[in-house]
Amino acid sequence: MWFVSRVSLLFLFAWLAFRAILVSGNDRSVYIVHMDKSLMPKAFASHHIWYSTTINSVDSLNHQSSPSLLYTYDHAFHGFSALLSADELEVLKKSSGFVSAYSDKKVTVDTTRTADFLSLSPTTGLWPASDYGSDVIIGVIDSGIWPESASFKDDGMSEVPSRWKGTCEVGQEFNASNCNLKLIGARYFNKGLRASNPNITISMNSARDTDGHGTHTSSTAGGNYVEGVSYFGYASGTARGMAPRARLAIYKVLWDEGRSAADVLAGMDQAVADGVDVISISLGFDGMPLYEDPIAIASFGAMEKGVLVSSSAGNEGPDIGSLHNGFPWILTVAAGTLDRTLGGNLILGNGLSLTGWTTFPAKAFVKDVPLLYNKTISTCDSAEQISLVSSNSIIICDNKNSSVYNMLSIVANSNAVAAVIISDEQSVLSDDFPYPGVLIRPKEGLDVLKYAETSYKPSASITFQQTSVGTKPAPAVAKFTSRGPSASNPGILKPDIMAPGTLVLAAWSPNAPSSTIKPNIQLSSDFNALSGTSMSCPHASGLAALLKGAHPEWSPAAIRSAMMTTANPLDNSQNQIQDIGTNFGIATPLAMGAGQIDPNRALNPGLVYDATAQDYINFLCSMNFTGNQIYTITRSNFNCSSPSSDLNYPSFISLYNSTLATGAITTVQYYSRTITNVGDGAATYKAKVSAPKGSVVTVSPDTLVFGKMYEKLSYSIAIAFTGDKNGTVTFGSLTWIDDNSKYSVRSPIVISPMVKAL
Ligand SMILES: *[C@@H]1O[C@H](CO)[C@@H](O)[C@H](O)[C@H]1NC(C)=O
Ligand SMILES: *[C@@H]1O[C@H](CO)[C@@H](O)[C@H](O)[C@H]1NC(C)=O
Ligand SMILES: *[C@@H]1O[C@H](CO)[C@@H](O)[C@H](O)[C@H]1NC(C)=O
Ligand SMILES: *[C@@H]1O[C@H](CO)[C@@H](O)[C@H](O)[C@H]1NC(C)=O
Ligand SMILES: *[C@@H]1O[C@H](CO)[C@@H](O)[C@H](O)[C@H]1NC(C)=O
Ligand SMILES: *[C@@H]1O[C@H](CO)[C@@H](O)[C@H](O)[C@H]1NC(C)=O
Ligand SMILES: *[C@@H]1O[C@H](CO)[C@@H](O)[C@H](O)[C@H]1NC(C)=O
Ligand SMILES: *[C@@H]1O[C@H](CO)[C@@H](O)[C@H](O)[C@H]1NC(C)=O
Repeated sequence: MWFVSRVSLLFLFAWLAFRAILVSGNDRSVYIVHMDKSLMPKAFASHHIWYSTTINSVDSLNHQSSPSLLYTYDHAFHGFSALLSADELEVLKKSSGFVSAYSDKKVTVDTTRTADFLSLSPTTGLWPASDYGSDVIIGVIDSGIWPESASFKDDGMSEVPSRWKGTCEVGQEFNASNCNLKLIGARYFNKGLRASNPNITISMNSARDTDGHGTHTSSTAGGNYVEGVSYFGYASGTARGMAPRARLAIYKVLWDEGRSAADVLAGMDQAVADGVDVISISLGFDGMPLYEDPIAIASFGAMEKGVLVSSSAGNEGPDIGSLHNGFPWILTVAAGTLDRTLGGNLILGNGLSLTGWTTFPAKAFVKDVPLLYNKTISTCDSAEQISLVSSNSIIICDNKNSSVYNMLSIVANSNAVAAVIISDEQSVLSDDFPYPGVLIRPKEGLDVLKYAETSYKPSASITFQQTSVGTKPAPAVAKFTSRGPSASNPGILKPDIMAPGTLVLAAWSPNAPSSTIKPNIQLSSDFNALSGTSMSCPHASGLAALLKGAHPEWSPAAIRSAMMTTANPLDNSQNQIQDIGTNFGIATPLAMGAGQIDPNRALNPGLVYDATAQDYINFLCSMNFTGNQIYTITRSNFNCSSPSSDLNYPSFISLYNSTLATGAITTVQYYSRTITNVGDGAATYKAKVSAPKGSVVTVSPDTLVFGKMYEKLSYSIAIAFTGDKNGTVTFGSLTWIDDNSKYSVRSPIVISPMVKAL
């Protein structure tokens, strides 16, 4: 085998020399090349070097530069992507191990990649079933909207639903003509802010978004199609919201000058009064008991009117108990990564090409520049030392004690051309990359250091604006996403679900900077890539709107249940989703709830766990609140005759007091649940339990026979936990599976230490 490969490679070199005389050069474009890894000659230490060599060998004399390797792939398939001319491709096709190549153009790289990542399709599933959400109104509570953004054009939209009662409020640089069939309403609320700051000057006194956040979230939930957009050359493609035909109604409550709980409450109330179907709220209040939290209060009223409120879990992870918006009557959304990397390539003088992360917002030219590794300077923590670096160099920064951002800002004050930052800060997902450079993982950083230390004249090139999709494993839980249990409501497992929330590309206010180049160049863009639960929440909101469009009769609890019980606990390599916040340990439900949202499955969940307003009142009545406190939430007379902490929720949490924990103490907790058959007709379901480590889970009955659609049946479940209660979180699941294996209705189970309740 070795001999054969070797021969063909030699042949290739000879053939190349000949071929180079014949071919005429033409423009290069990106190709994705499949290779047969089993044919790799043993002479090569790694597939990576093999690919690099292969690529270098197809160099034709007609080009000034060698064709460059962009990415090597070793997970989804074996091969690489490279910039090649048509004639180079022809040469490549003859090399050993070549399987196939296709032009990058055939790959749909969508700016809101998340629609593809979540398998939304125009031909089947939730998009066609809901007519893309055309009858559904999403209210967005945020910093307003930039109405001129292409994402809010109303091309292809039908008449506004007649039930709509909202308005397009006139204000500074905003009038009725800013609304249309897509952007059907816009209002603003700042009386609270003004009241607590009497002398304040509001710089943009209207629904116009001068921050960008509200424009981003609105377009993620319900933006129209916009072709040919990108973030400074990264992630280019077609942008669209999750519900591209849904209507948007905007309630501006966040101001450049501050925010007030009163305004948030007023905005949410007005949204419900105006007739929205779903509220998307990517903000929260930390450290507040239920009865003081304006979002808890306003969302209770929304739930009573049949409006689903979808909210962000917060960005205070990875410690447990850091979550906000953990109310039982609301959807709480965690953030995960996408199967997309924005980055660049570091190509060392020896031909080794490494993939790194960067979002440097320009096409910088860094080619064959001397690579500087000086241990004194390379801590990149001293502006003084860095200032001595020669202007014609790429500096290597390697300091575990310093953050990527700190190293970048120090290097920005040097004369160096660019930086190679070696760091395992896996959660670097910021769009803020103010200086030309790439981030390289420590493992690959070893190759860089070795090369820099052992070469006579080390040099390197860096390419920017590289985007790769289909990366595995994805999703992973983002480090920043806030974790349950919910301090204001520990007895209900929160968050509920995870949605994409890292470097999400969506519309932006062009007057707000979307990136910076040091020292002081601020860049503007109509689209911006941002990370946060603020970005994952509107994904869930848009998908909830689609479900509402497909099933107008479903309650908010039913919609949430459908999303949760069909969520996927596995990533795209079919392993349990990992958590970046625990250094790639297996993610627990306290981090991601039921798992990654799976919209097409949510369309037909089989069974739902429903809940009424009275069920939530019974729950509140069990919480040792005073009558006044309960009234603050319900805002109408309530009946506490049957208090019950056992809410009909599609997940289970069992809490133990870890400070009591010595030896084997057994805790047993009982729950009862009622499930409604929303499948086609008669069906028999059997329970399948995966018990958390150290626990015994008993389900009774373990078979449920539904005679018809909408029939309700109940079961009970006991979770007995014996073990070392020393702070460990353990988890498992209960899944009801029908006889035809058409539906599997999964609920996460988690056993968690208690957190200090509010
Ligand atoms: C609304 O504002 C636009 C510019 O923002 C202006 O052209 C138009 O005349 C205004 N319409 C009304 C009714 O004031
Ligand atoms: C507001 O302005 C008035 C008049 O300038 C001043 O007397 C007052 O102290 C200011 N109030 C606050 C809260 O700054
Ligand atoms: C490394 O940098 C320090 C500080 O500028 C300098 O004194 C030293 O000579 C440099 N080392 C090498 C090998 O260039
Ligand atoms: C990192 O910090 C620790 C403790 O402050 C120190 O001992 C160590 O030398 C530092 N390492 C580097 C590379 O600066
Ligand atoms: C319930 O509330 C009362 C009054 O607020 C308080 O005295 C009591 O300690 C609370 N009980 C528990 C179990 O929290
Ligand atoms: C409260 O609810 C219970 C049971 O639903 C009912 O029997 C009772 O009359 C209600 N009380 C009031 C004051 O409405
Ligand atoms: C846990 O047990 C300790 C010791 O009895 C007690 O002080 C503490 O309040 C308990 N914690 C909770 C959250 O109940
Ligand atoms: C806590 O318990 C788990 C499971 O029994 C065990 O693996 C872990 O080592 C324990 N941790 C401590 C700090 O005792």
